[in-house]
Amino acid sequence: MAENLIIAETTDKADRYKTLVPQIDALISGEPDLVANLSNIAAALRQTMNFFWVGFYLVKDNELVLGPFQGPIACTRIAFGKGVCGACWKEKKVMLVPNVDDFPGHIACSSDAKSEIVLPAFKNGEVALVLDVDSDRLNDFDETDQHYLMQVMNIIEKFI
Ligand code: SME
Repeated sequence: MAENLIIAETTDKADRYKTLVPQIDALISGEPDLVANLSNIAAALRQTMNFFWVGFYLVKDNELVLGPFQGPIACTRIAFGKGVCGACWKEKKVMLVPNVDDFPGHIACSSDAKSEIVLPAFKNGEVALVLDVDSDRLNDFDETDQHYLMQVMNIIEKFI
């Protein structure tokens, strides 16, 4: 396991992700515990990308339940299909929301959140958890975030 996180000294986010993703792989290698791994992944993403809020919601019975995260306190439970996270679960696809005010049913855990990206991780073809990232700036996420965060979800799918 990596003991120190190396953060690329660049404002280019693709380069920061490129340095981060292999370290996330190393962080979880040999550690099967879900909470331990998701906690370190949330911390590594927050430290590297300075996200306003980053964390996981886990599918438990018929709802999403808050998991490890970094940032302000957040809603603990989200129903199937509700909000951006629930839509990601229902539609089984990445949700990229440039302006949360334009997303019908968006759940505002913080009034400071302006844009959002949510990605699913699958187990046996079903969504097992989602990664939610919020920004306090409009239009803060794009295909670059989606591309590299999907690589993170692929790593997560190795231990869930
Ligand atoms: N905005 C999310 C809820 C989770 S918080 O942003 C941490 C949603 O609409 O699903």
